[in-house]
Amino acid sequence: MAESFLMNTGARIPSVGLGTWQIEHGAVSDAIYAAVKVGYRHIDSAVAYRNQKEVGLALKKLFEDGVVKRDDLFITSKLWPGNHAPEDVLEDIVTSLEDLQLDYLDLYLIHGPIRIKKGTMFIPENLIPTDIPATWGAMEKLYYSGKARAIGVSNFSCKKLEDLLAVAHVPPAVNQVECHPVWQQEKLRKLCHSTGVHLSAYSPLGSPGSPGYSGPSILSNPIVISIAEESQKTPAQVALRWGLQMGQSVLPKSANETRIKENFDIFDWSIPDDLMAKFSLINQVRLLKIEFAINPQSGYNTLEDLWDGEVDTGNKRTEPEDHSDFLRCFS
Ligand code: A2P
Repeated sequence: MAESFLMNTGARIPSVGLGTWQIEHGAVSDAIYAAVKVGYRHIDSAVAYRNQKEVGLALKKLFEDGVVKRDDLFITSKLWPGNHAPEDVLEDIVTSLEDLQLDYLDLYLIHGPIRIKKGTMFIPENLIPTDIPATWGAMEKLYYSGKARAIGVSNFSCKKLEDLLAVAHVPPAVNQVECHPVWQQEKLRKLCHSTGVHLSAYSPLGSPGSPGYSGPSILSNPIVISIAEESQKTPAQVALRWGLQMGQSVLPKSANETRIKENFDIFDWSIPDDLMAKFSLINQVRLLKIEFAINPQSGYNTLEDLWDGEVDTGNKRTEPEDHSDFLRCFS
């Protein structure tokens, strides 16, 4: 299995990246340093994760210590939802570059089809409708300037991706979405393959315990466990290896050195076809529905609007919705 995938820019994206959402301050630098020493070459970050300065410190130390050179790393960041206005996009990447202490990003993504008023907190009262074609025009300028060597999107449904492809001069290189054995994104993967957009998987382990996520566990799914037992691997390794064999890059997050190593030990073995076929038996549930975005101000009146039907609305929460923990992560 290749350790990287080709993007439509001609550059390659490493097939395993370290996710950094929710790695606590004080731990993210150590996690990145450990990951790069193990062999990770892709770090996935975002302004919204509120730890980019620490990511930057870790990168600086890695370069100073001679562990790795800048050009050997692939660094992703994402546009803050309050900076969608075309005139704010350049300033947004400049802030990220300053925090990360870098001259360019390998990949810069619109974080989602969700927008808030400039300079406000990430709470439902501040939502406003997106204007993706306008924002994308500014993203294209960053690509032409070289500040972002590839541009893409995150959390885009098939319809939103198709709408963007219809107006883009520079097609998105990547759509980074929730993807794992319990939410396999079959329809989106087919669209991405046919249009040359690389699908990158966030929450490849289902982000157990993360705010905003609800639904069945991946790591204790009986089919995943049985494949892990037959392969003599852990359930996490099986979930990640499934992703690679489906042709997507995976972005597992861990702050624990043992698990960081475990999550990278997925290259010199494979899941045979008969076991790969068993993943199709797993019941499909989107774990991160982003319900707080359903609000008259955002223009999304239902989850169907936000995800263009790609959501298991039959699997609604039974407890009252409380988004405060999720939103607190970004403010
Ligand atoms: P920790 O940081 O303590 O390792 P995802 O990548 O889907 O967002 O999931 C991240 C969550 O999964 C974190 O809580 C992380 O905890 C945990 N995790 C990461 N790697 C493993 C692993 N190999 N086995 C079990 N849990 C893991």
